Amino acid sequence: MSELDLQSILKFTVALAYEAGHVIRKGSEAIQLAGSNVDEKKNSVDLVTEYDVKVEELVKKKTSETYPSFKFIGEESYAAGSRPEWTDEPTFCVDPIDGTTNFVHGFPWVCISIGLIYKRHSILGVIYNPFLDLLYTGVKGSGSYVTHGGLNGTPRKLPFASSPKPLASLSQAQIAVEWGNDRASKPLTSRSESFHLIAGDPSNGVVGGRMAHSLRSLGSSAMNFAMVAQGGLDMYWEIGCWPWDVSAGVLIAQEAGGLVTGSHKVYAETKETAAFGDVGEAILTGRKYIVVRAIGDAEKETGREAQKRIIGEFYDTVQDYDAL
Ligand code: IPD
Ligand code: CA
Repeated sequence: MSELDLQSILKFTVALAYEAGHVIRKGSEAIQLAGSNVDEKKNSVDLVTEYDVKVEELVKKKTSETYPSFKFIGEESYAAGSRPEWTDEPTFCVDPIDGTTNFVHGFPWVCISIGLIYKRHSILGVIYNPFLDLLYTGVKGSGSYVTHGGLNGTPRKLPFASSPKPLASLSQAQIAVEWGNDRASKPLTSRSESFHLIAGDPSNGVVGGRMAHSLRSLGSSAMNFAMVAQGGLDMYWEIGCWPWDVSAGVLIAQEAGGLVTGSHKVYAETKETAAFGDVGEAILTGRKYIVVRAIGDAEKETGREAQKRIIGEFYDTVQDYDAL
């Protein structure tokens, strides 16, 4: 990676995220005051506004001016038909507004997510929520941080816990899940039954229930990853996201000691191999993601073994289904 100056790319990307954040906030004010044209993509809950497009155009223009040789994958460019092939070249992977539904409703879990993929792996991630002024950054091999207070803020290393807590079972976990925008009967039923088992009380009629501490839906995949990196969420699972939703978050979570993998199948096939937790093109594009926060080593179980155990317990509980 020595051929890429990641610290200088990080500085550029952070400045760009702040600039984009300003546009997102102004857009939100305009929407709350005067409304906006909200368009539908796949269906009536898959939304896009003029600001998604505007922010992506800004990011595409600035990245191509400063890094003309880098490739670009963006949610709105992809929707408009620009679908570059994956290569080993450095590639910005951008969701201009992650949490568009929140954005439209004025619910402040909204961010821009900018990942840099190199040799088909995330190597840098920047997530900025301009409403809560939370900037999450991560660089491969250099850790991940959260900063509040803009350029004057002091980056705080992730995870917050200096010695990450154990996680004995799912019953003690705070877990992010999402309803997503695929509401056809099969995926909706699989998702609902899965949530039912994760939440349900096995001693009061929910056979197989894990009675987790809670389920949360922030409405932004990138923010879910950031919260797992921070330690506010113990884990996050979703089927149906895209590389731009997760590329930055994957790196930020990994650099905070989190373990990321893909589907039930990927988990089963890799869990006993050195490839477990290696997130390359197949997982990034695989539409199925699970991440568990850092867990400290204990006498009888390493943190990584505990992360594997928790994912195993989770995947024994929830149903797999195809993303549309
Ligand atoms: C969506 C959000 C949401 C997740 C969806 C994503 P968008 O991204 O990340 O949390 O459930 O799968 O598509 O549409 O707001 O960019
Ligand atoms: Ca988006």
